[in-house]
Amino acid sequence: MSRFKEKVVLVTGSSRGIGKVIAMSFADAGAAVVVSDVLAEEGEKTAREIRELGNQSIFVQCDVSDSQDVNGMIAKTVDKFGKIDVLVNNAGITRDTLMIRMKDEDWEKVLNINLKGAFYCTRAAAKEMMKKRTGSIVNISSVVGLMGNLGQANYSASKAGLIGLTKSAAKELAPRGITVNAVAPGFIETEMTQKLSEQVKETYKKVIPLNCFGAPQDVANTVLFLASENAKYITGEVIRVDGGMRM
Ligand SMILES: NC(=O)c1ccc[n+]([C@@H]2O[C@H](COP(=O)([O-])OP(=O)(O)OC[C@H]3O[C@@H](n4cnc5c(N)ncnc54)[C@H](O)[C@@H]3O)[C@@H](O)[C@H]2O)c1
Repeated sequence: MSRFKEKVVLVTGSSRGIGKVIAMSFADAGAAVVVSDVLAEEGEKTAREIRELGNQSIFVQCDVSDSQDVNGMIAKTVDKFGKIDVLVNNAGITRDTLMIRMKDEDWEKVLNINLKGAFYCTRAAAKEMMKKRTGSIVNISSVVGLMGNLGQANYSASKAGLIGLTKSAAKELAPRGITVNAVAPGFIETEMTQKLSEQVKETYKKVIPLNCFGAPQDVANTVLFLASENAKYITGEVIRVDGGMRM
């Protein structure tokens, strides 16, 4: 498939999990892919796997909550590939606990990575995209940002904030030919969700009309659609990938 031939795609947090599957899917569709993460060893491995498939790929170590790191990551992308066509803000963490027990650090760390990080990446990538008057940005939010969740005040606030950022950026960047959308996954099987107890997983399943958890590929398919020509008239949208959990 060559849907993204000659396109340059940067996926944050793509050493593993959903981000890795998104990165591999773009490569499979012909893109040059910048793999970025705080995890160097796994990130190098993902970039190597993409090169072994015959596609161009580099790994850039970056902590998205550090604006200098982010500016450096965008500069390296442009140095290597001359442009950036697609940014996927996927890096994210959880620090779950009930609000009354939540430490300042639990709140700050989650907001800094999930929301401020996406802002830093969007700001830096948008400057490059604006020069070419084209581009697309896809933010990985969560259904929890739409509905809230016990023990996730920090995470749900960050993911709800990301939806606000998506819509504001969509309005600001539309005149420059850049689309900005969000995907809100429900329960997707990755290392992030492996931490949850069997009891919690069974409780989730009961409220999912399709009665099963999603796979990272389900999220990746939606991201590729939003970044593609097929979605060129869609901006400021949030697409749930949640088996009907929050319809
Ligand atoms: N798994 C789910 O059910 C689910 C549901 C809804 C939304 N999401 C969102 O999808 C995204 C990917 O989640 P996942 O399940 O693959 O999790 P994961 O923990 O497997 O992957 C997250 C990646 O982000 C990286 N990362 C963490 N902090 C970073 C930082 N400061 N800078 C750069 N990279 C950093 C991690 O190293 C990791 O590679 C996250 O934004 C998450 O909130 C996941």
